[in-house]
Amino acid sequence: MTITAAGGRLVVDSLQKHYELDGTEVPVVKNVTFTIEPGTFYSLLGPSGCGKTTTLRCVAGLETSNGGEISLDGTTLSTATTHIPPNKRDIGMVFQNYAIWPHMSVFANAVFPLQVSGGKLPKNEARLRAMEALELVQLDHLAQRPATALSGGQQQRLALARALAHRPRLLLLDEPLSNLDAKLRDTMRNELRSLQQELGISALYVTHDQSEALSMSDRVAVMNQGRIVQEAAPRDLYNQPADRFVADFVGRVNMIEATLHDRDSAGDAIVEAFGTRMTTPCPGEIRRGEQVTVTYRPESVRWHEAAVDRPNVLPARVIRVEFLGEIVEYEAEVLNGDQSVGTLVARGAPLATPPEGEVIYLELTPQACRVIAA
Ligand SMILES: Nc1ncnc2c1ncn2[C@@H]1O[C@H](COP(=O)(O)OP(=O)(O)OP(=O)(O)O)[C@@H](O)[C@H]1O
Ligand SMILES: [Mg+2]
Repeated sequence: MTITAAGGRLVVDSLQKHYELDGTEVPVVKNVTFTIEPGTFYSLLGPSGCGKTTTLRCVAGLETSNGGEISLDGTTLSTATTHIPPNKRDIGMVFQNYAIWPHMSVFANAVFPLQVSGGKLPKNEARLRAMEALELVQLDHLAQRPATALSGGQQQRLALARALAHRPRLLLLDEPLSNLDAKLRDTMRNELRSLQQELGISALYVTHDQSEALSMSDRVAVMNQGRIVQEAAPRDLYNQPADRFVADFVGRVNMIEATLHDRDSAGDAIVEAFGTRMTTPCPGEIRRGEQVTVTYRPESVRWHEAAVDRPNVLPARVIRVEFLGEIVEYEAEVLNGDQSVGTLVARGAPLATPPEGEVIYLELTPQACRVIAA
C-alpha cells in the first residue's frame, strides 16, 4: 500500500453557527468544542436536526462559522474573520448521496478532482494516485466501467476512493452508509473502519445511528440541539450516560423514577422505587428525598421463576413477548401485591424467554444500575 495519509489533529473550539430566518438569527451550532487526535475515528451522534451536518460543513469549509476556531495540525482553518476555502484544507469528504458523476467512468470519477482542485497534480501523478485509491477500495478492476453501472455499495466505495485520492489528513463522512441495505451497511462499516486504521487517517463521522457510532469509533460525541452533551469512548458512553437524553438515545434503557433514601453499609444507595426499596451504586452525594432516575439496560435484566433472596428482585407479570431473531424482548408489569406499579423491558436469548401472562421475578443487579439526577 503506497497511500500513507498521516492523520491530522483537528481542534474545534467554541464553534458557533446560526442561520438567518425571516430576519432573526437561529443558532444551530452552539459552542461546540472537541478534538480529534491523529489517526482516530471520531463520531458526532445525535437526532435529526441537532446540527451534525452543519458542524461537519463548517469543518470542511462549506459553511462560514459565526464564532470559534477550527484548526488542523495547528494551522487555523477558520475563525470569525478568516476562512480558508475547502480545496485548501487538506480534507476529504464523503456524503450520504455519494455525489459521484454519472456521465463519467469509475476511473474518471477518481481522477477528476485531482486534475481540477487546488493542488493540480501532473497528469501521471494524478492517474497514479487515482488508481491507488481505487485499489484501496477494491474497485481497480472496474476502473473503466461507467459509474452508473456500479451497485450501491460500489458507488459508496468510489466516493470513498475519490475522497482518499487527495491523501487528506482528515476524512469527513456524513451518514455515508444510510442508503445501503442492512447487510451491506455492516460490511461497509467494517471495511471503512479497517481502512481508516490501516491508513492511520483521522476521521470525523456523522450519524444518527447509535450502533454505527458505537461500533466504529474511538470516541463519540452525542449532540442535542446544537450542543455536545457528552463525549466518551463507546463503552463508557453506553455504561455511564451523563443524562436522561444520552441514556435514552444511545441504546434501549429502562428509566425508573426513584427517591434517594440512604446509604447502606457497603456504600451503595438505597432508593425507593416501584413502592419498594432498591439498591444502586451512587457516586455522588445522597440527599434524602431527592428525586432521581435509575437507568437499567434491558439486556442486563435477569428473570427467575421463583423469588430469590438478593437485592432488587421484583415480582412482575409478563405482558408482551416479541421475537426479534437473535434475541427476544419482553415487557413485564412490576407488581406490588396485585397492583401494577410500572413496567420494565428486558431482552434475552430466545431459548430462555419467560411465558406471556406468567408472574416471574426480575432481578436488576445493583452493579448494572446507574443513578442520573432528575
Ligand atoms: N441553510 C439553512 N438555512 C436555515 N436553517 C438551516 C440550514 N441548514 C440547516 N438548517 C437548520 O439547522 C439545524 C441543523 O441542521 P443539520 O443539517 O446540521 O442537522 P443534522 O444533525 O445533520 O440532521 P440530520 O440527521 O437530519 O441530517 C436544523 O434545524 C436545520 O433545519
Ligand atoms: Mg445531517
